[in-house]
Amino acid sequence: MRIDIATLFPQLCDSVMSESIIGRARKKELFELHCHQIRDYTLNKQKQVDDYPYGGGCGMVMNAQPIYDCCQEIIRQVTEQGLERPHIVFMTAAGQPYSEEKARQLAQKSALLLVCGHYEGMDERVIEELADEEISIGDYVLTGGELAALVVADSVLRLQPGVLSDPEGYQEESHWDGLLEYPQYTRPEVWRDKAVPPVLLTGHHANIQAWRSEQAKERTRLRRPDLWEKYQKDHPPEPEKKRRRK
Ligand code: ADE
Repeated sequence: MRIDIATLFPQLCDSVMSESIIGRARKKELFELHCHQIRDYTLNKQKQVDDYPYGGGCGMVMNAQPIYDCCQEIIRQVTEQGLERPHIVFMTAAGQPYSEEKARQLAQKSALLLVCGHYEGMDERVIEELADEEISIGDYVLTGGELAALVVADSVLRLQPGVLSDPEGYQEESHWDGLLEYPQYTRPEVWRDKAVPPVLLTGHHANIQAWRSEQAKERTRLRRPDLWEKYQKDHPPEPEKKRRRK
């Protein structure tokens, strides 16, 4: 997989994507990631990338042209490499809400282009022209799309083969099957008078699985009634098999 990020802060994105699990996987070339400076594509001497909003109002709006030209150059590079045209995502607070399900969909693409706005937003026409979709990472407003793009890149890249050391790991985590994750414990067995739930010390795999499954459901029911409702709809209880009358 190849991910490109178009941004006014390519070093910020590049440095975050060079650390920890994602950084190690990047070094191993398990995926390609490139960060591009939108400002390099301005046509004015001052390298200004924004302007006042038509109709007035506070803040500045990013011009369409440098974003468009930056994306066109990225598309050229990606297709020249023999990959399909990248799936283009604009990071905006007005986009569709992000989820693990969306991460799994994006993880199927061979090339992804994440476009980050700054200031009060981007000229709508460049979004109309290029975006396959707009994504928001939550109902709050960030100063720019960079943190959102990094959230998307991280959650998509961890699903790529080889990035996580334990590939089954993510199938037990929160949101994988629509439930929150069960609680986890490690040594010591007793800490500040709190003991680890005894079932986890039994070595009885089936009982441990059953306990974890119960915990995951109970947590989801209490903490996220919205997810719990959806989970119940998607997993209706199996009808009891009718006993045959003699
Ligand atoms: N840009 C500003 N706020 C954002 C958000 N919540 N999600 C994605 N991009 C953004």
